[in-house]
Amino acid sequence: MSNQKIPVEKYSTPEIASKSVAKEVAALIQKNNSDGKNTVLGLATGSTPLHLYKELIRIHKEDGLSFKNTITFNLDDYYPISQDDPESYYYFMQQHFIKHIDILPENFHIPDSNMPRESIEIECAKYEQTIKDSGGIDIQILGIGRTGHIGFNEPGSSRDSRTRLVELDKITRDDACSNFNSLENTPKYSLTMGVATIMEAKKIILMAWGKSKSEIIAKVVKGSITNEASASFLQSHPNAKFVLDKDSVSRL
Ligand code: F6R
Repeated sequence: MSNQKIPVEKYSTPEIASKSVAKEVAALIQKNNSDGKNTVLGLATGSTPLHLYKELIRIHKEDGLSFKNTITFNLDDYYPISQDDPESYYYFMQQHFIKHIDILPENFHIPDSNMPRESIEIECAKYEQTIKDSGGIDIQILGIGRTGHIGFNEPGSSRDSRTRLVELDKITRDDACSNFNSLENTPKYSLTMGVATIMEAKKIILMAWGKSKSEIIAKVVKGSITNEASASFLQSHPNAKFVLDKDSVSRL
């Protein structure tokens, strides 16, 4: 393991890795709760954070961690998609996290995948402003796509990109296709926080599991910073780390 440009933590399994991340997130929430302060989390969907949400729910139920002073902002959602579509990220978050904890409904934020096209620009700017008004993101949780995307910042996304409508890469649509039955039914667009939005988080934890992620992980940890893989921008973040399992780390 040489030439690493981002700190990496390696764990034997995704479950053990996720428990460590959950512990870190819970400790911050606990501290802020005791200090009477809010905690602002940036959240991801997909298969990667499932163990993390499961563990945070367990800590809430068994150890009494309260999310009443926690504010969350999700990275992205497909566009357009109905919020009650089981494939929407809104629905995903409700099922896998939000409905199991005591967060106030108004403190859960996700780009609105039903907004009319003509409102997108103004609504995306409002999303950015709401993040700022909340005090900024304390911990941003990320997964990574095989294109190197964070959020849905596909190849070509610039370092200064903000929350906006983006066209999904063919590889990303191929990866999502099994959830939508066919490529034709797979969304072509999404609303996503931009690279600049993500980079403003005070702390960033990117998680990745499995052999299928090992190639892109090696590229963004050891390669140069390029808008061809937006995760590579994390090399220049002062407080970002990758939490990996033994398979995703295998090419480092
Ligand atoms: C999801 C997101 C994406 C995913 C990435 C990995 O909100 O922003 O960047 O984190 O596509 O997806 P999984 O975890 O399903 O491999």
